[in-house]
Amino acid sequence: MTFPIKLASRLDPIKPSITLAVTAKAAKLKADGIDVISFGAGEPDFDTPEHIKQAAREALDKGAVAKYTEVGGVLPLRKAIAAELSAVHNTKIEPDQILVSSGAKHSLYNLFMALIDPGDEVLIPAPYWVSYPDMVMLAGGRPVILETKAEDDFAVTADQVRNACSARTRAIVLNNPSNPTGAVYTRAQIEALAKVVVEKDLLVISDDIYRQLVYGDAEYVSIAAAGGPEVAKRTILVDGVSKTYAMTGWRIGYTAGPLPLIKAMAKIQGQSTSNPTHIAQVATLAALTGPQDCVGTMRKAFDDRRKRMVELLRAIPGVQCREPKGAFYAFPDVSAYVGKKSPEGSILDDDVQLCDWLVEVGKVAVVPGSGFGAPGFVRLSYATSMKNIEEGVARLAKSLGTLK
Ligand SMILES: Cc1ncc(COP(=O)(O)O)c(C=O)c1O
Repeated sequence: MTFPIKLASRLDPIKPSITLAVTAKAAKLKADGIDVISFGAGEPDFDTPEHIKQAAREALDKGAVAKYTEVGGVLPLRKAIAAELSAVHNTKIEPDQILVSSGAKHSLYNLFMALIDPGDEVLIPAPYWVSYPDMVMLAGGRPVILETKAEDDFAVTADQVRNACSARTRAIVLNNPSNPTGAVYTRAQIEALAKVVVEKDLLVISDDIYRQLVYGDAEYVSIAAAGGPEVAKRTILVDGVSKTYAMTGWRIGYTAGPLPLIKAMAKIQGQSTSNPTHIAQVATLAALTGPQDCVGTMRKAFDDRRKRMVELLRAIPGVQCREPKGAFYAFPDVSAYVGKKSPEGSILDDDVQLCDWLVEVGKVAVVPGSGFGAPGFVRLSYATSMKNIEEGVARLAKSLGTLK
């Protein structure tokens, strides 16, 4: 049935998430019986660790999770989160300063809704996670995109931030390690950014969802800890269990920040979703307070796959791939293949058309860089088996090799 329903104009600038679209397209082809290898998903391929599942089972059997909880999450969970974040960021965070939401994406949505007035500007370094600009726009704000370069390891500089600030600038989003690039800021880069944050009186929205997934000699440096109290008081921490504990489907993320902001976000959450799922809160408490060796085991597997994927990508003629040092994505430059002609006779004018062709003809799904504000690049998740990595990158190499 088609009925010409008028939709709210606030949706006009909003695009659907390109990562979800690529993942859905690959899943549809697979459901149709086509053998597609997907590097689209931004989630671990591992199951949630057993002790976390066991805690959820026990709570369910005890009849302990059938009821609503406090909007912002149960106190034992907020205490555990506050303790962990206080230690990581070297600042005292009280349980009242924590809001637990239905995934870090939900945390960020509540945050922008609570913070941004129409016309307020938010600095977003590119390549960026797909949802930041759209969430800022949904809140009526203006995303101000700061371009970074692969040769600078995709790090935004203090000067860029300084020069981009206007009277309307409220905040900068810092996603470290980064989705989609896998870049990790060095201590010196974080310290330089910390200075400009105080100088320009900015808030830092620190999206730390991948902070425990760093490899080799890279280290996660907290801007709140590195910058001291002046920066810590301006920093809003967004974190969660999705990526670290293979818990994407449980949908738990959290925010730590100044009390008035957390209360405002809780007001929004209280008028929309209410509490995040009770059983998922119990599982998250087990994740944060239980044994942590599962994190190291998964990190080691990601690291091995990362090395193999980068090695294979670098062997493809014309593909440039810098070393991702965190998260679970490789972000190669494939611009040498944009504008080329496929054997079927179509010109692949941009990275979106290239990725469409790759999934349909090459049977390998990768995400176009345009969705992350980086045309000419593609994102591949290495949170998949070594077998898929070897076969999938071989398909990529073979397909690209047929372009003229
Ligand atoms: C940078 C970044 N922030 C936030 C999220 C949201 O995570 P969650 O699954 O907890 O909503 C993601 C998930 O892809 C992400 O990559």
